[in-house]
Amino acid sequence: MSQQNVVICRKLADDLFRTLGRFSYDKLFVLMDENTERFCFPILKEFSCLKEAVPISIGAGDVHKNLSVLSEVWMQLSGKKATRHSLLINLGGGMVTDLGGFAAATFKRGIKCINIPTTLLAMVDAAVGGKTGINFNGLKNEIGAFAPACSVLIDCGFLKSLDHSNFLSGYAEMLKHGLISDEPHWARLIRFDMENIDYNALQELVQESISVKEKIVEIDPFENGLRKALNLGHTMGHAFESFALAQNRPVLHGYAVAWGMVCELYFSYVKVGFPKDKLYQTVQFVKENYGKLHFACNDYDRLYELMKHDKKNLTSETINFTLLGGVGDIRINQTASRKEINEMLDFYCDVMG
Ligand code: GLY
Repeated sequence: MSQQNVVICRKLADDLFRTLGRFSYDKLFVLMDENTERFCFPILKEFSCLKEAVPISIGAGDVHKNLSVLSEVWMQLSGKKATRHSLLINLGGGMVTDLGGFAAATFKRGIKCINIPTTLLAMVDAAVGGKTGINFNGLKNEIGAFAPACSVLIDCGFLKSLDHSNFLSGYAEMLKHGLISDEPHWARLIRFDMENIDYNALQELVQESISVKEKIVEIDPFENGLRKALNLGHTMGHAFESFALAQNRPVLHGYAVAWGMVCELYFSYVKVGFPKDKLYQTVQFVKENYGKLHFACNDYDRLYELMKHDKKNLTSETINFTLLGGVGDIRINQTASRKEINEMLDFYCDVMG
């Protein structure tokens, strides 16, 4: 997979100008959703390098990450005379970078694209590492491709206007990167003042977090092995996310991952010796910041069924987990029996109060 250039911006206008100067293209397009069109594009369209850029706007939210919106983007690119040598800038959260990345990967067999993520989740996860795609047939990210953007421009200035829930959602993926990397990084994340955000300190943590992901993706771009480390918290997390959605009380992805990590770190402690003190420190952090998803013992069957349909499973009967023997001690391809899954859920209910 081609290398992706991640730039931590000092001044977005200058960094974008320099980045665009590295590529040849005939026409520039900017894909955004209705939120980034309203709040971010007005700033970007004043940049001299974007004077001629053609805007394409789509609806906001995961419900729009679908085939019909993708087809709308292809139509607009086609109608506005994009060629194989055009360049697409994806300006937005993970929905825009996922769908836009896939539109770019497939239009005329692939055009170049640049990601400018505007949410924390997109900065530390979705926009980096080359996963692109759409939801299909009721399944998340069912259709897609590994197609890295040529460049990812990180401007933490966007985070100052991000609401606290979306900040927390992205932060959960950062906490995951801390857990799979090393103790000092994890400790800095746990100690970070979540109420009075120091944006300079946050930018350093974001940079560190992205480099954790980049190093893993460089070794295993197509998720045959080590990249599965990035799935920590996601087996339970996806089940929680789908469960909440089915009950018409959707939760943000990162919240579900944070709750998923509570279960999976407990299982890590039981199965591969993750240290108890770090388990409880992480649980405490999640409890304080993310609250709790409520479910009862009679919901365990439903959660188990949802886990069985996870595309990370190697067979339809075994449920795949990424566990940790300690911070940074990654154990991929672990499985859990039904009884062990019940125990994880029991622990979650006990400890989260
Ligand atoms: N979001 C996990 C990955 O990119 O592999």
